[in-house]
Amino acid sequence: MNQVTIRVPATTANLGPGFDAFGCALSLYTDVTFTRTLNVDSVGSFRITGCDEAYQGPDNLAYEAFCAVCDSLSEPIGDLHIHIDAHIPICRGLGSSAALLVAGAMGANELLGRRLSTQGLLNITNAMEGHPDNLAPAFFGGLTASMVDGGLPMTVSFPLHSGWQFLAMVPDFDLPTAKARAVLPKDVSRADAIYNISHGAMVLKALELGSEKLLRNAMRDKLHQDYRKDLIQDYEPIEALIRTMGAAFCLSGAGPTLLCLTMDPTLKDRLAEKLPQVTTANWEIYPLHVEFQGAKIIASE
Ligand code: HSE
Repeated sequence: MNQVTIRVPATTANLGPGFDAFGCALSLYTDVTFTRTLNVDSVGSFRITGCDEAYQGPDNLAYEAFCAVCDSLSEPIGDLHIHIDAHIPICRGLGSSAALLVAGAMGANELLGRRLSTQGLLNITNAMEGHPDNLAPAFFGGLTASMVDGGLPMTVSFPLHSGWQFLAMVPDFDLPTAKARAVLPKDVSRADAIYNISHGAMVLKALELGSEKLLRNAMRDKLHQDYRKDLIQDYEPIEALIRTMGAAFCLSGAGPTLLCLTMDPTLKDRLAEKLPQVTTANWEIYPLHVEFQGAKIIASE
């Protein structure tokens, strides 16, 4: 095999109080095709197509993860062509970076004979990303919680009701994760830590049961969302609108995408009608559902 295409789902991290721990895979995808040529003439060249020129350099995350897996297996990279067909919006808090890391790691592993386990690939990519909350659901699908101990991530999957609709409100401005992390305090109070641990446990149960009422109350946070509000235009009126409509609300990952979680299939149309009344920014509503399958191969030759 010298060519493989990997499809990776979008992911939403944190889910309110589960900062750097909870994540869920969603029904929006990025496909990445890796074509590797290895012969006596190989010079270790690489070419990246399908994305903006700004992402075609050696710091492309799919390329970096591909190289990291080759390195860990002591294999040459060969001459590599990476083609990216991205449907996950970039720099919007829906796991576009994690998707590229997962694709690169899986792509290399497949082309090298699938010698590493998914856990092994998670270990490598977590060392690159710094937190496993997007990576874990991108690899495993569904709802996950992860912890890092001794530098190594460990992930468990949680059941969740299939009726949840994730209405992702994606603005036309981006927010680099580094900027959204820079505004967070280094230390937190015991009260805030307790608040998030207790609310986090309730979020997992509410997602399992499909209880909108429990989720609405539990999906609150003291560790990151308040600090990030000012980076996102009209965060507060949009949160107020979602809560008035009876749904649950959180920031998707580091933002700027805002998330409305509901079991009500009619809510999307009402939200689309009311959203322009509370914000002057342009928001596109993506009606998403849970993707229970993680990254997978969709073509190979
Ligand atoms: N847990 C991360 C954060 C997700 O909120 O910063 C974004 O990478």
